[in-house]
Order: sequence, then C-alpha cells, then structure tokens
Amino acid sequence: MRLDKIVKGGQVVTPAGSFTGDVGIAGERITALGADLAPGQGARIIDAAGHYVLPGALDVHVHLELPFCGTVSADDYRTGTRAAARGGVTTVIDFAIPYAGESLGQAADNWLRKAEGKALVDYTFHICITRWQEHRDQIAGMIERGFTTFKEFMIYQSEGWQSDDRALFGTLEAMREHGTMLLVHAESARVLDELIARHHTPEQMARYGARLHPMTRPNFVEAEAIQRAVQWCEATGGQLYIVHMSTAEGAEIVRAAQGRGVPVLAETCVQYLVLDDSVFEREDGHLFACCPQVKKPKDVERLWQGLRRGEVSVVSTDTCTFSRAQKATWNGDWTKIPMGLPGLETLLPLAYTHGVQRGRLTLEEMSLKLSTNPARIMGLYPRKGAIQVGADADLAIIHPTNTRMVDPAAMETNADWSPYQGWELAGFARTTLSRGEVIVDDYAVVGREGRGQWLPRRSAGLEAGRPAAAAAAAGW
Ligand code: URP
Ligand code: ZN
Ligand code: ZN
Repeated sequence: MRLDKIVKGGQVVTPAGSFTGDVGIAGERITALGADLAPGQGARIIDAAGHYVLPGALDVHVHLELPFCGTVSADDYRTGTRAAARGGVTTVIDFAIPYAGESLGQAADNWLRKAEGKALVDYTFHICITRWQEHRDQIAGMIERGFTTFKEFMIYQSEGWQSDDRALFGTLEAMREHGTMLLVHAESARVLDELIARHHTPEQMARYGARLHPMTRPNFVEAEAIQRAVQWCEATGGQLYIVHMSTAEGAEIVRAAQGRGVPVLAETCVQYLVLDDSVFEREDGHLFACCPQVKKPKDVERLWQGLRRGEVSVVSTDTCTFSRAQKATWNGDWTKIPMGLPGLETLLPLAYTHGVQRGRLTLEEMSLKLSTNPARIMGLYPRKGAIQVGADADLAIIHPTNTRMVDPAAMETNADWSPYQGWELAGFARTTLSRGEVIVDDYAVVGREGRGQWLPRRSAGLEAGRPAAAAAAAGW
C-alpha cells in the first residue's frame, strides 16, 4: 500500500516490545511497521531519529467546560484539546452530566455540542447517572448510541449528582446485564459532611485556611467508599472502575478484590503520583484543592507500586481547570474553593519524567498505563491505544532528555497557573499525530480545531472483547 507518511528512525513502542525503525501511515491508519520502510513518491518523512515514538495517550478522565462549584471550568474543547495535543494526548473522555430534569440522551447531546467545531483530538463521554429512578431505563438506549461507560458520584449532593447505594447496586446490575462498565467517584458522603460541619467555624478557618481541605478528608473517607462500591461490584458481578484513586488503602482494597476475581479496576491521576498534601502549607495552597485531594508521600509511593504490580490500570488527569480568579472566590472558606486542577498538557511529561526517568516505570509500562490499558478498558482498542497495523495513526513523538519548563504563559490551557509551575519536565510532544495528521509540530499546535471526532464504542471493561449487546445490535 502507498504510504503518505513515514515516521522514520525512532524508538517505536508497541505492545510486542520496542524497536528502532519506522511507522508507515496511509490515510488515517498505521499500515506498516518496519526497520526501514521505503518511501513511495510524495510520502512525507517525519524524522524521529533520537526520539521515542509512543502511541498517543488517552486521557479518559477530563472535564471540559464543566458547570461545577458555582462556576464553569475554564478549559473548553478548544483550549482543552489543544493542551491535550501539545501533551501528546490524542483521545479524551469527558463526563456528560444531566442537569435538572435532563435525560441521559440530553446530557450526551449537550456535551456533543460543546465539542462540535472545537475539538482538535478525538473524544467521547462517560454518561453520568444522577437520578437513578429516572435514568435507569435510559441505559440501554445510550449503549445503542455507542456509549458504553457510565458514571456515578458517591458525593456532590449540592451539585445534584450524588448516587446512593441503591443506585450503585442497581446500576452495577445493569452493567452486568449489558456487559458495560460503571465508573465511580468513591468518597463517603455522610462522614465527609460530618467532618466538614465540625470544622466549618470562623475560628478554624482563620487558623487553618486551605489546610482544612485535607484535614476534613482523611484517607478513610475514600477507603470506606471504595470498599462499599467493591462490595456491590462483588455482589452483582457488574464491572466497576474506581476513578481518581488517591490512597494506599484504596490500592489495598482493589488489589485484594482483584485477587478474589472481583471485576474492579482502578485509575489514579498524575497529581496523586507527583504531589502530596504539603502543597496546602503554601500561601497559594488553596489553588491545589481538587477532589479527592492529594494525599501523603506514603500514598504516592503505594500508587506507583500499584501501577507496577497491576492493581492500578490507568493514569489520567481529572483535568478540571480553574483560573486564579475563580479559585480566589473561596475568600478563606475552603468549602467554596472550585475543586480541580489543569492537567492535560502535563500528563505525559509528568509520567515520563517522574515515572520513566526516575526508574519507577519502564517506557513500555508507561505506555500501557497511558495508552493501551485506557483504550482497552474504555472499549477503544485496537483502534486506539497501540502502535500496530490497522490502528489509527495517533502518535506522540518525544525526546528522551530535552526538557521544557512548565510555564502557564506558554501553554495552551486557559489556566493562568499550574500545579507544576517552574518544574523542568521532559516528555512534551515534539510532534503529535492524530489519525495520520500532524497536529503538533516542533512543540507547537498546528492542527485545525473541530477536526476531532466523536468515537462510538461497543464494549467496555475487562471483557472489552465482548460487545455490549445493545451496541452490537445497533451495529457499532
Ligand atoms: O476536583 C475535581 N476532581 N473536580 C472534578 C470533579 C470530580 O470529582 O472529578
Ligand atoms: Zn470525581
Ligand atoms: Zn473528575
């Protein structure tokens, strides 16, 4: 087959191992891999000598233009996916959340409209179930439309998002029936509310400021909720995926459950791997409030261990950007800080610098956690997630050692700050390709907004090979 482009002479990371050689692209797909592919007439050569050629990362946990905490998160599909591309992320999965009275279908339509005409990379959504009694009968229809992952929050009553045990149990039963997967934000709502109420006094706020954020969310707040969600997963057999796991205790619970054959998977986010709660001692500590918050150094080390041992399958970002001005509305009351961090642009650089360069993960392991596993688990494999013949030509080409300093002024995100400001990181994408098109060249975004495509899916979870019945019937 005639090749349009050849990515030449890089160290190419594939599921079968790494090799030094070429990736041949025809149209949107990878069509050849080899030691020295012959360029046909007119083929563009992309020199990758001295670079790693990785599958584009999938960030399967992002929130773009999210109404949350009384404001709207500052990165939309334009800036968010430009940031993604510059960070070597070629697929994002956001969360479509129904607001008052809306159906699951309306939520998906709202999110499709947000992305339409703006997205630079490919995308899809997890569908959030916020009112189980109403939404339960809409699940099969969403699967028919090509959405195979659902989400429930165990907190956020004030946002109107909170699910109780009945909803979790019932949704997991439905996941089992359909062969689809439930993502859960696991924190213990009642205990959390109680701890917040105990500390929510003018004296405590004057004394502790933003440190009350970690003080009111001890590890057991996450651990109890993970334990309970795992219990319902075990009882129903429905596939469960714990989002943004941040604690050592969570990793232990998931590991033990997986050992018993319980169909639970876990994701952590890169902030839980590189930050700890000492950030709240800083004068601008309130900027770092995210939910759940970053934990202790022992949790950080346990999560890295979980990645190596396998109980942590995926690293994402939970990007939910708020500017300094948005964060400033807290006025000394930690319960009013818009919770979330920017992250899409720094996912791969942080995982590479703090994971691979520090010897915590091999290049192949990093690629598994950022690309192959997320694609498999979210039902996008083999189209996404690996450099192999037949897959979309989604590639991130990075230099092994060249670093860049994190400087929000020079970044694509709308954030005017970064949790990693001033950090020297390797692993920014010199070149990013999405479906065969160069969208980042020489570290600068060159792709056209609106070119990103919605990705229909027909499966999800551990049994990703088994298509969800409704999606299969609909022909996805
Ligand atoms: O702080 C965060 N994570 N904001 C987004 C909402 C969520 O819980 O993921
Ligand atoms: Zn969450
Ligand atoms: Zn989130």
